[in-house]
Amino acid sequence: MRKNIVAGNWKMNKNLTESQALITEIRGIVRDENTNKAEIIICPTFLALASASKLLDGSTVKLGAQNCHFEDNGAFTGELSASMLKSVGVSHVIIGHSERRQYFNETNEMLAKKASSAVNQGLTVLFCVGETQSERESEEHFNVIKSQISEGLFHLTAKDMESIVIAYEPVWAIGTGLTASSDQAEEVHAYIRSLISEKFGEATAESTSILYGGSVKPDNAVELFSRANIDGGLIGGAALKARDFFDIIKAIK
Ligand code: PGA
Repeated sequence: MRKNIVAGNWKMNKNLTESQALITEIRGIVRDENTNKAEIIICPTFLALASASKLLDGSTVKLGAQNCHFEDNGAFTGELSASMLKSVGVSHVIIGHSERRQYFNETNEMLAKKASSAVNQGLTVLFCVGETQSERESEEHFNVIKSQISEGLFHLTAKDMESIVIAYEPVWAIGTGLTASSDQAEEVHAYIRSLISEKFGEATAESTSILYGGSVKPDNAVELFSRANIDGGLIGGAALKARDFFDIIKAIK
């Protein structure tokens, strides 16, 4: 059985005090109302991670980072490694978010190295893929997803894949209020699962969680999460409000 997961990607939002307040609020709601149907992960900025880890001590809420470098240490000014994240209690890391691909020129080759480094450090990777609007319009989306998955993940072993969660995030749906329909999302999720199955076998494909991301809100989450190949969500804007985030978590049945 694969896990249902709801992860919050806070992006470049919330200073330290604001982060601590939101974490405390989420922790409280989860403690009082948790349905235990989904693994819950929050990914604040690097700034807040060490303190978040202390605030989440004893909570079921897991802590993720939004990026890491592929080397363990060295002359990479401004970067952080997977082992450093691990040292402050981080268990998950987002790799390959479309904003990193687009604004920071992260290539599939670089992301493959980041995925290896994170897995080797014992982190679980939330590996993001997704096509742009023009790629969808020209019906290139399956090809784009195939190269992102194969070039980013196919150097790994089936064992490594136990530490990989995939997030399908169509770029045109991120932060735009335009959600993929549940049919569009389900179609791509099923395709991703078939790619994993061809490369790593049926058992790995069946146990890999595939999340949908892109304008998930409490009112569209139920429909999206009801689909066979959608195992939860990666949530941006709605993860910045504890109540909305928890209402999305409750959409997991
Ligand atoms: P959104 O972002 O929910 O604000 O669209 C999702 C993401 O980028 O992970």
